[in-house]
Amino acid sequence: MATTSHSVWAPDSWRALPARHQPRWPDKTALARARERLAQLPPLVFAGEARALTDALGNVAERRAFLLQAGDCAESFADFSAVGIRNRLKIILQMAAVMTYGATLPVVKVGRIAGQFAKPRSSATEDVDGVELPSFLGHMVNDDAPSADAREPDPDRMLQGYHQSAATLNLLRAFTKGGFADLNEVHMWNQEFVASSPAGRRYEQIADEIERALRFMAACGIDLRAEPQLHQTDLWTSHEGLLLDYEEPLVRRDSLTGDWYDCSAHMLWIGERTRQPDGAHVEFYSGVHNPIGVKIGPGASPAELLALCERLNPLRIPGRLTFVTRIGADRVREQLPPLLRAVTDAGHPVVWVCDPMHANSFRTASGRKTRHFGAIIREIEGFFASHREVGTWAGGIHVEFTGEDVSECLGGSEDLLEEQLDTRYTTLCDPRLNARQALDLAFHVAELMRLEAWS
Ligand code: PEP
Ligand code: CO
Repeated sequence: MATTSHSVWAPDSWRALPARHQPRWPDKTALARARERLAQLPPLVFAGEARALTDALGNVAERRAFLLQAGDCAESFADFSAVGIRNRLKIILQMAAVMTYGATLPVVKVGRIAGQFAKPRSSATEDVDGVELPSFLGHMVNDDAPSADAREPDPDRMLQGYHQSAATLNLLRAFTKGGFADLNEVHMWNQEFVASSPAGRRYEQIADEIERALRFMAACGIDLRAEPQLHQTDLWTSHEGLLLDYEEPLVRRDSLTGDWYDCSAHMLWIGERTRQPDGAHVEFYSGVHNPIGVKIGPGASPAELLALCERLNPLRIPGRLTFVTRIGADRVREQLPPLLRAVTDAGHPVVWVCDPMHANSFRTASGRKTRHFGAIIREIEGFFASHREVGTWAGGIHVEFTGEDVSECLGGSEDLLEEQLDTRYTTLCDPRLNARQALDLAFHVAELMRLEAWS
């Protein structure tokens, strides 16, 4: 992986290639200063951790585990608090408990968190209340406030993004290792506004059963205190590695192996809009040794996927490459099987994950961007059915959610209606599942996983 077909790989070799969706920084001196500062700052994650995640994802590729990748569409500089992080972690832990319990297989937990600050946008400008403004590109680039000044890209935001990621990661490490993720706390993850919903009540039953299982093991003489897996967990971090001016200075050489790692997160993914096999992003991620994801949208061809496999995982390491398919509820059954066959026939080990969100967005008559819970579930069902047809492993899901009680996606067991969207619509970018919808979705997925794992 250290060399490419073009020349010897280096952290800056992407610069010779076309890089899509990069901001036009107006102040080049400020950009150089920010990049220099980032290059001096400590890594956010370590190479050994990225390797451990590759191994965990290798288990997914080899049918021994599932992946749950979940979090915000875009994290916010403004809405940043311990409570917000804790509430998102609670939902991830709840979803993972439901899925682990349902499928009786390990669930690898990866957050869209601690670095998810840069967004590709279909259009350079957007209409905000009748005014045309440069598009919001994520808080690491510009501000979402509705003024031309706020929308000006500012490289110092990359430093703020780095520091917020560090603080987020610090709290996540404390929560996941310091007792909060202890299975004895399984009831505590159910927030009040979730517990009163049908999914919340179903969750309480599973939590009771987990408690009983723990008491049963203790009664059998197992010293539960001595089993660290019961008291702590791993939540890995990931984000779209879109902003190469941020990612490049955080590339470090591992002193143990001599390999390069992008130390901004454990896992990075390449978006649907920047995955050209001869583009800058694929070049950049071909040379770092983190596990890498690629979003695969409707219309992608088998040849494109094979080219990505060759560029990003020529050594065919299980867990190195994840394809996150987001094809759409109506097209997945037709378009996914040929892709699965092509990659499998070529002998490439790939983790296949379903993002049921991004190809199912639409705007309501009043202009709100939303997604319907029913369409999200249909894409997941089509994903599992396609894998069953081809004989490949439906490895997991990738979803956008928030731990709060928002009204951004329609439907679900509470049947959120179009006229209710305005009441609590707070996302900076795409509509997210609220905490109840996310838990509801986990139950659907657990059932599909159970059928898959036991068949
Ligand atoms: C996203 O994950 O927020 C995103 C922009 O996805 P995609 O690249 O699949 O459109
Ligand atoms: Co999104």
